[in-house]
Amino acid sequence: MSSVLTNGSLAIVVDGMKFPNPFVIGSGPPSTNATVIGKAFAAGWGGVVAKTTSLSDLPVVNVQPRYGKLNSPSGDTIGFQNIELISDRPFEDWETDFRKVKEAWPDRILIGSVMEKFEKARWQEITERSLAAGCDALELNFSCPHGHPETGMGAAMGQNPAMVEEVTRWVVEAAGGRPVWAKMTPNITDIRIPARAAKKGGASGVAAINTILSTIGINLKTLRPTPTVDGHSTFGGYSYRSVKPIALRMVGEIAMDQPGFSISGIGGVTSAVDAIEFILMGANTVQSCTGPMLQGFDMVTELGEGLAAFLEQHSFGNLQAAVGQSLPYFTTHHHLVELLAEKKRAKEVELANRDTEWGKKDFVAEAGALVSSKD
Ligand SMILES: Cc1cc2nc3c(=O)[nH]c(=O)nc-3n(C[C@H](O)[C@H](O)[C@H](O)COP(=O)(O)O)c2cc1C
Repeated sequence: MSSVLTNGSLAIVVDGMKFPNPFVIGSGPPSTNATVIGKAFAAGWGGVVAKTTSLSDLPVVNVQPRYGKLNSPSGDTIGFQNIELISDRPFEDWETDFRKVKEAWPDRILIGSVMEKFEKARWQEITERSLAAGCDALELNFSCPHGHPETGMGAAMGQNPAMVEEVTRWVVEAAGGRPVWAKMTPNITDIRIPARAAKKGGASGVAAINTILSTIGINLKTLRPTPTVDGHSTFGGYSYRSVKPIALRMVGEIAMDQPGFSISGIGGVTSAVDAIEFILMGANTVQSCTGPMLQGFDMVTELGEGLAAFLEQHSFGNLQAAVGQSLPYFTTHHHLVELLAEKKRAKEVELANRDTEWGKKDFVAEAGALVSSKD
């Protein structure tokens, strides 16, 4: 494990939680039980968001195959689709796992992820039990785009700001001051609206983004969409490299709209460059899920060393100093046009200042460029 991951040089405090580094495993297969979570921490990840859990009586039946890849013409995987549901394990097993993990890794951040029906008692029960079992914080899954939305959960809630606000309030009430992040769905026109609702409901921050509803391909021989389950498929969640530009935009939109609200940036992080981009867009932690699935947990070494080198190169005294540094460079398209026009005017003035340049263009315009007040 690289020493930069734990020696304090990449540490950051987010919503009162001390992350040894900002790299967090996103909810999914790389956080699906205590064994894999332990492997992530051993590799050096600063935090883990557990695979989404629910109370044990919620039916969860997975299918297979449930993944699909999109490769570029050169053969690199650039996109990934899944139709996987939340954890199918009984919640009691999760309580045992949370206790085990927290005991073994007290200096790392363990975040439980929860999804439930629109019932206050259920959300509050799972909140209290997750925190009592050792989770440092909770992430609310308002964003899984397939399967559970058919029964009003996941993205179906995340697309309804009133529900986001209300459920967040229930959870915050039961969380006794522990941090609560609302995980946003990108399958919405304006992500700032559910993010505002989460803040109004008392969330400490948001995680953005979950997967983008998609279909990864169609078999041209059989005409069947993939992944094909007994001849059929369903739209699923798109992730990995190719979603990063969309995720960066959405993180930036939230960061500009809600300064000071914590953001865990997610979507297509495969390298230090990707992670740094999320930080510059306002994320104070960065999650990756498909990255470790396809590249292994050790990818965090490159993330840590790349980020440490970047902070040094730009003389940022600490990680917090880099958060959101690229946001001031975003503006409207209208303003870009104005900036160019202003640059052109400045150039004309500069040229007109040199006698040798006079007469090369419109003489009257050249003279006009030197007039201090315009009629
Ligand atoms: C196979 C798979 C399963 C996932 N399961 C969950 C889940 O249970 N809960 C959740 O909030 N997000 C889940 N996600 C979404 C990821 O946490 C993440 O938001 C998304 O994949 C984008 O990040 P990435 O490009 O780093 O994978 C899953 C993603 C994948 C690929």
